[in-house]
Amino acid sequence: MTATDIVWHEHKVTKVQRSTLKQQQPCILWFTGLSGAGKSTIAGAVEQKLFELGHHTYLLDGDNVRHGLNGDLGFSDADRVENIRRIGEMAKLFTDAGLIVLSAFISPFRADRRMVRELVEKNEFIEVYMDTPLAECEQRDPKGLYQKARNGIIKNFTGIDSEYEVPSAAEIEIKTAEFNVEECAEQIIQYLKDNNLIFSS
Ligand code: ADX
Repeated sequence: MTATDIVWHEHKVTKVQRSTLKQQQPCILWFTGLSGAGKSTIAGAVEQKLFELGHHTYLLDGDNVRHGLNGDLGFSDADRVENIRRIGEMAKLFTDAGLIVLSAFISPFRADRRMVRELVEKNEFIEVYMDTPLAECEQRDPKGLYQKARNGIIKNFTGIDSEYEVPSAAEIEIKTAEFNVEECAEQIIQYLKDNNLIFSS
């Protein structure tokens, strides 16, 4: 369903004005990876560092957003597509607000991640692949969900009986099994500095 007879309203205060006031370049750090790969943990650590550097951020997290806005969605392929579509639109609005957005969702399908990339301006979408092997995620199993999936208690679990499509050209790849949280977060901060998205002081 698409909206007809609705015309986009151009408001006077622009994205450039909002982000200039915040002295930052808005962007989306789009974390993707298996459950237990470390998306929320590393995104949280990066947000903390950005905050300390004086940046205005917002962290969208799968487990939290699924309690509210996306509380009506499950884990069928169609629901995951809709989950990411809504998150993408929300991330776009927050970018328009001038924020550095961090999003931590499995976002298992390449086409959906590409769809979000195309929603925003070039260079505003930074895909961060949490490259953590399934065996490692399963061993961590912080919420006991892999165990339940293996026992057939949870169906359509990513990596077990639902697909995860590995990014082919993520801007950043983080090997969480090889580095600690601090080092992983620092790699992302370094990328932002190297690409002039934040400035070294
Ligand atoms: S996504 O695939 O639609 O991007 P999302 O990141 O929002 O998923 O939610 C994933 C979180 O939901 C996981 O970290 C896990 O805690 C929980 N979860 C519950 N059921 C499933 C499932 N079948 N597959 C994956 N994650 C699940």
